Amino acid sequence: MSHRCRLPGWESKKMSAEQAATLIKDGMTIGTSGFTRAGEAKEVPLALAERAKKESLKITLLTGASLGNNVDASLTDAGALKRRMPFQVDRTLRKAINQGEVLFSDIHLSEVVEQARHGYLGHIDIAIIEATAITEEGAIIPTASVGNSASFARLADKVIIEVNDVWPEALEGLHDIYLPAMRPDRTPVEVTAADSRIGTPYIQVPPEKIAAIVLTHRPDSPSDNVPADEGTQRIADHLIDFFKNEIASGRLGEQLLPFQAGIGSMANAVLEGLGTAGFEGLTMYSEVLQDSAIKLLDNGTFRFASATSITLGQEVGNRFWPNIEQYKDRIVLRPQEISNLPEVIRRIGIIAINTALEFDIYGNVNSTHVCGTQMMNGIGGSGDFARNAHLSVFISKSVAKSGDISSIVPFVSHVDHSEHDVDILVTEHGLADLRGCAPRERALIIIEKCADPLYRPALLDYFHRACERGGHTPHLLNEALSWHQAVVESGSMRHFADSPAQS
Ligand code: COA
Repeated sequence: MSHRCRLPGWESKKMSAEQAATLIKDGMTIGTSGFTRAGEAKEVPLALAERAKKESLKITLLTGASLGNNVDASLTDAGALKRRMPFQVDRTLRKAINQGEVLFSDIHLSEVVEQARHGYLGHIDIAIIEATAITEEGAIIPTASVGNSASFARLADKVIIEVNDVWPEALEGLHDIYLPAMRPDRTPVEVTAADSRIGTPYIQVPPEKIAAIVLTHRPDSPSDNVPADEGTQRIADHLIDFFKNEIASGRLGEQLLPFQAGIGSMANAVLEGLGTAGFEGLTMYSEVLQDSAIKLLDNGTFRFASATSITLGQEVGNRFWPNIEQYKDRIVLRPQEISNLPEVIRRIGIIAINTALEFDIYGNVNSTHVCGTQMMNGIGGSGDFARNAHLSVFISKSVAKSGDISSIVPFVSHVDHSEHDVDILVTEHGLADLRGCAPRERALIIIEKCADPLYRPALLDYFHRACERGGHTPHLLNEALSWHQAVVESGSMRHFADSPAQS
């Protein structure tokens, strides 16, 4: 361990996870590492969950994004979470959020530390951060994610470091840590391309703030994305045709522009599908690198990829992590405040591809709330990218739940991305290019290109009857959410497909 824990006298701070967890008191706000189930602090939160089973203890937990190793589930089951932000993907926690037992604050991922450093989220008592190594000066070399770790370490009174020797020591040098100054003294963030490096390869921590060092050997949870299928390849093919046409018409160059791809199975599979197009030397400026990004780096589609975390399935992970040295000059991990920074996204001109749960005939997108009330995961970074991207693309299968639910509806039941932030919508049936279109044009294009043929007549019927009532964005307000009401009552929208006149 001496080459991983290089801070002189580090042994005096060494503790078991159980001992370190006793530093956490009821009512505290804790900030931990972890982003899309990558690089989360593991041992101390799990030890805290064990403690919370025996004593009354509730904390506010801030992270980068979602956590692996059942950390969220264990803390939820133990009743240890009062408040959680900014993102999660855990079924147990999701249920507790939807039952109102855990308060969940769903904000743009780039804004979490902005709000924290200005005191909007209260005081951060303790930061718990997973490390590959601790340097001679006490700085942290992060692991598979950076997330909000650097800001949590700066803002917290005390820092607990989990040194995890499961990670190759070669991770040192992968990260680029830069934190913007407080306003009004902030200067431009000088990231001008995906491969810009503007910071340090470590997170600075004053050694006197390090309250505990916990040693561990617990790996990240592998991602559980489902593989690509015919539908995702068709979505990718529509996008490939679109990009080739943009190149042919001179609106994009051969190198396109840096890609961002959202989390989850759909975005992963569609990005992988783009690898069949013969593009070369592209770049990625994204939030998370999933299996698809590594495959595209391997086959030369991507030249360079920037993100804040790397979340891989077992197979790609087994190949990637032991060979990290070979990728280090082609990947950088940054704080999520920088990977998702609107200033940079607008400057370098991102092609953002995110996933919708549903979108409506005018192009409003719901990415978070099933039937308008039940939280799925959270908005994540999709809004950081969608609003500021050069091209904002949303993808979805045209139907969910074996066709019982149309993903294209008269009116979304919750708005995460308004029609003003959406340029392109794609389903397996086609691509709707909405640039420059007025709402009445958008509706016809979206229904024709994206809706499943089963639901097209009912959507057209709704639109035409709404147009008879008039308006810039015509709606039948008494029917606009009737498709969702049908799902709440019967679990299905098929009734509209069978008899469109009743929609
Ligand atoms: N109504 C109800 N349920 C729906 C639905 C709809 N219109 N569309 C999809 N679903 C369900 C699916 O059936 C699936 O349910 P299951 O878990 O019970 O099988 C679930 O939603 C996830 O859908 P899936 O097709 O597996 O997609 P995914 O893994 O690609 O995830 C999102 C899609 C939208 C949930 C995910 O991308 C997300 O959380 N996005 C918001 C955050 C974000 O975009 N971050 C990226 C920024 S970089």
